[in-house]
Amino acid sequence: MSHYHIKHLEEYYQVYRKSVREPENFWEEIAEEHFLWRKKWDKVLSWDFTKPEVKWFEGAQLNITENCIDRHLSTRGDKTAILFEPNDPNEPAEHITYRQLYERVNQFANVLKEQGIQRGDRVCIYVPMIPELAISILACARIGAIHSVVFAGFSSKALATRINDSECKLVVTADGSYRGAKTIDLKGIVDEALQNCPSVKSVLVVKRTNEEVHMEAGRDHWLQPLLDKAPKEGKAEIMNAEDPLFILYTSGSTGRPKGMVHTSAGYMVYTAYTFKNTFQYREHDIFWCTADIGWITGHSYIVYGPLANGATTVMFEGVPSYPDFGRFWEIVQKHKVTQFYTAPTAIRALAKQGVELVDKYDLSSLKVLGSVGEPINEEAWHWYNDTIGKGKSPIVDTWWQTETGGIMITPIPFVTPTKPTYATLPFIGVQPALMDDNGQEIKGNQVDGKLCIKFPWPSMARTIWGDHQRYKDTYFSAFENKYFTGDGALRDEVGYYRITGRVDDVIIVSGHNLGTAPIEDAINEHPAVSESAIVGFPHDVKGNALYGYVTLKDTGESRNHENLRKEINQLITDRIGPIAKLDKIQFTQGLPKTRSGKIMRRILRKIASNDTSNLGDTSTLLNPEVVQEIMDNVL
Ligand code: WT7
Repeated sequence: MSHYHIKHLEEYYQVYRKSVREPENFWEEIAEEHFLWRKKWDKVLSWDFTKPEVKWFEGAQLNITENCIDRHLSTRGDKTAILFEPNDPNEPAEHITYRQLYERVNQFANVLKEQGIQRGDRVCIYVPMIPELAISILACARIGAIHSVVFAGFSSKALATRINDSECKLVVTADGSYRGAKTIDLKGIVDEALQNCPSVKSVLVVKRTNEEVHMEAGRDHWLQPLLDKAPKEGKAEIMNAEDPLFILYTSGSTGRPKGMVHTSAGYMVYTAYTFKNTFQYREHDIFWCTADIGWITGHSYIVYGPLANGATTVMFEGVPSYPDFGRFWEIVQKHKVTQFYTAPTAIRALAKQGVELVDKYDLSSLKVLGSVGEPINEEAWHWYNDTIGKGKSPIVDTWWQTETGGIMITPIPFVTPTKPTYATLPFIGVQPALMDDNGQEIKGNQVDGKLCIKFPWPSMARTIWGDHQRYKDTYFSAFENKYFTGDGALRDEVGYYRITGRVDDVIIVSGHNLGTAPIEDAINEHPAVSESAIVGFPHDVKGNALYGYVTLKDTGESRNHENLRKEINQLITDRIGPIAKLDKIQFTQGLPKTRSGKIMRRILRKIASNDTSNLGDTSTLLNPEVVQEIMDNVL
């Protein structure tokens, strides 16, 4: 019997138990029945978390694009694969059928080959939310090139760091991008980045905004004329199960961004299977995930998961506030969206608007609502459930990470009873563990601890590009033989999980994962700055906002604090991107430090959050006197 589609709670428990007792048999059955393999595997799983090394479906051969495209041509050739909704509501939506997708991906793949891109080469994709973004991803996968998508809101410095880390040979970009009423000069950002990227030999430029841009002779090419000449057919490169499919960077609590490496077979099987169940996807549904493809959510649940199921996936170029805050609901009505997947920060921003902006539209097509990226607070959960779902569309609060590749803890709609703020139960095959500070697993219910996963799942990242040691240190060293997520969680009386937030120096702002260290490094570049520390504080729309404590060099001159604040945020925008700007900047005489010189962020966090009733023991600090000064001047 097939368990590809779970339909009731008993079945969930039954299949879950099987997936834990006989993981290899379980995943083998899923893989056998639902995918196109050029060659079957020799071994379903081999793993060793001490190295760490994990291999799924070893020996198998496949191409993920044959599963996402070719396989559907005979039955779904005329079905819309990608439904593109432009930024401007007056510009018509574009319906790209599976057959058209096949042709456009092949053309793009042929252009890449003509540019000298071969299997294993890295291609950086810095493209806004237009169809070419999805098409270029699939084109890379088609020829076995490793795509590295960089969110098109990152700055030129951040882009250059990522291009250099994985030594990309080619960059795909656009002349510009639209975001609401704004036009962004994307090509200018790429030009700046490429001043320091020796590995890049060519740049393919999509025309979107028709702005005039600089084209570097011999390096830059307009994409369309090349596509026009390229054949619409092309063989998919036959890949090994564990060949890298893509690199996607995520920020760490320290140092450079981490290039998480995902491989082909396991990623495909897991994203397809989670997509089908978490959204109870059915053949004629219209699925819309509002994330940008520059993040893992978009990779897994705009591109690969939906297409592997032959679904229609919506790609929206714009922002929720343009031309007004009714835009999301207008799109739901217009395209009769059945599953809607967004982030708590968007929900909170929309909930602040008048309900007339919702009531204007017919949302009756909706069946399932999803949430991802950060904990969803109770108020936002109820607004989403009542005002958008009218109490009839279950909310799937999906917990997962760039590193996990797919959804890990989530209700299955119409199967798992939901509970506000709870991600509820582990997905099939996922074995969570809560750990105490002594490294012991906490058994039983009504407990909380650090969230680990104790058994491999097919879509886990296999390494950090170029730095396997860092992969081991970051994820497999805190707890023996377990993958450590960096999150805290509690388990209630029935075994439901609630994610309580990060337990490391990563702060989630508007659903974006930001490490404190790179932001502090950017601030410290300012000539007047001596030291800085960043913490998060609660924000009613963003979830968390950033609070910076900055000490200045003693130069004897007086400084204009307002100007300094602007300069600091400009530096952050240049080095990382506007998403990492600070909401508040407090200038202080010093930062509280331990005797070994480590900044006590715990204290700074409490002060920034206005929660100073219990600061804990400050007597062990090297400089306890600064605490009062900071409290007196808190913003
Ligand atoms: C971190 C991962 C996975 C796609 C988007 C984020 C937080 C994510 C939830 C949720 C509570 C969540 C965690 C996690 N997070 N989803 N449903 N409830 N927290 O991917 O950028 O790699 O961030 O986002 O803290 O560790 P990411």
